[in-house]
Amino acid sequence: MSARLVVAGSAAGQQPWSRETPAQDQLAQPWWRSAVVYQVYLRSFADGNGDGIGDLAGLRARLPYLSWLGVDALWINPHYPSGGADGGYDVVDYRAVDPEYGDVSDVEALVADARRLGLRVVLDVVPNHTSDRHPWFQAALADPDSPEAARYHFAPPSEQPPNNWRSLFGGPAWSRTPDGRWYLHLFAPEQPDLNWRDPVVAEDFERTLRFWLDRGVSGFRVDVAYGLHKDAALRDNPGEYSPTLFGHGPEQAMTWNQPEVHDVWRRWRAVCDEYPDTMLVGEVCLADLDEVALYSRPDELHQSLSFRLLKSKWETPAFAEAIGSALEAFGRVGAPVSWVLGNHDKERMVSRFGGGETGLARARAAAMLLLALPGSAYVYAGDELGLPQAHVPDEAKQDPIFHRSGGERAGRDGCRVPMPWNATSGVGFSPARSARPWLPVPAEWKRHAVSRQTRDSGSVLHLYRTALGIRAEHPALGSGEATVSTRGDVLTVRCTGGGRTVRCVVNMGTGTALVRSRGQVLLESGPGVHTSARSVALPPDTAVWIEES
Ligand code: GLC
Ligand code: CA
Repeated sequence: MSARLVVAGSAAGQQPWSRETPAQDQLAQPWWRSAVVYQVYLRSFADGNGDGIGDLAGLRARLPYLSWLGVDALWINPHYPSGGADGGYDVVDYRAVDPEYGDVSDVEALVADARRLGLRVVLDVVPNHTSDRHPWFQAALADPDSPEAARYHFAPPSEQPPNNWRSLFGGPAWSRTPDGRWYLHLFAPEQPDLNWRDPVVAEDFERTLRFWLDRGVSGFRVDVAYGLHKDAALRDNPGEYSPTLFGHGPEQAMTWNQPEVHDVWRRWRAVCDEYPDTMLVGEVCLADLDEVALYSRPDELHQSLSFRLLKSKWETPAFAEAIGSALEAFGRVGAPVSWVLGNHDKERMVSRFGGGETGLARARAAAMLLLALPGSAYVYAGDELGLPQAHVPDEAKQDPIFHRSGGERAGRDGCRVPMPWNATSGVGFSPARSARPWLPVPAEWKRHAVSRQTRDSGSVLHLYRTALGIRAEHPALGSGEATVSTRGDVLTVRCTGGGRTVRCVVNMGTGTALVRSRGQVLLESGPGVHTSARSVALPPDTAVWIEES
């Protein structure tokens, strides 16, 4: 398949953006500080054996695509044996592979193949909770006095739950065991929270890290890294459960962000330090960005995902605030920002930005912004195809958020629909066309297929590939320094590095914007950009990279 992916006309020889010697400071940086990490939702990426479920063999076969695209690493959503209650985030065995996806030797083969292609593999690790089918929880259910029971949060039988905590997926955070005890689950009842004050829990997770690091993985994305420890006395939260747009705040002070958790990250960092070139990236959903940044102090997680862009409206003040505040907060602790525009938990950006042609144009412009900013960039599988949020019929939905809210919340299935690889009836997801994908793929998704977009030089896929190619060679993009400014509906990020400057200018308004410039336009996110000797005319919902002379 790699042969088919070779792009006609892709340039050999010197490009305007490349110089013969890459900047020295860029070469000296650890890879993760400026990596483009492609998030593989394993279940939906590629099905190797024809059961309609994505798997490791399918992913392995598609690695040439990721190498062609030009990303540096892939992060794979949980591949562990799971109870299946929350898309793999309810883990039964942390040192194994779910038979649906393959086995441990498939991970090893994936890592080896990826390495040959210059790609690194990052796994997901889920330390806040296990599956209720985990042997520890099963032992705890069987015997309240077992050592395993001490690894969770149980409370004796009583009329009312022990406190007022709420599950993120809806309803109370406490459920009852068959013998009437209460147990804590901040997510689904099938995801009992671990008690991180029990030292066996910490020891076991360090074994898990080493198990996979010994198999050559380049690190971990750490699920719910702001969780783990809870208030020692499990006191009531002071406020109603009402997360703000950007995450949890003081109203849930007893549940999240306990100071003790930072010691876990220091220990994990020390483990990673034994393995060269590995990294930890945390999911830290806290409203206060300065608190988020603390998780990435020099001896803790290498980075923490920055979700502000993922949650910002298509307006210059929102984007400027998202970028400026992240640069400042992470800059204060010396960590790179890890920019995110999409993931398996949020509505696809094409739809979030308004859907249709407008949504797509904005998503293309946003991609150029993402890839210009200094730091690492996380690209969610399918965003490079401009996939919109899929309509998933209620009866096909799997997400516990949909079911636990009694259908009130749409749930996350619409951003987890399998990848369209070609324009046949099964969209090439499984080897046989007749295989039924685990979530239905909309018929009209054939037009987003990889095979079509590779043939169309104006496709969003080509935009990503070209942008990634320029970013890889240009010292001012993806590393270095940046400042953000706005003028009305025009957002400008000025990126400098290696003595060069590139401005990423985005027109977020409804009319054409005139940008003064004598520089050279390196890339445009869409059609209709006109360049004259002194200015660039930028249509609405369009971005350009301009190298300043
Ligand atoms: C994280 C994951 C999400 C999962 C939750 C519970 O937020 O990204 O998919 O449901 O943790 O593990
Ligand atoms: Ca399969």
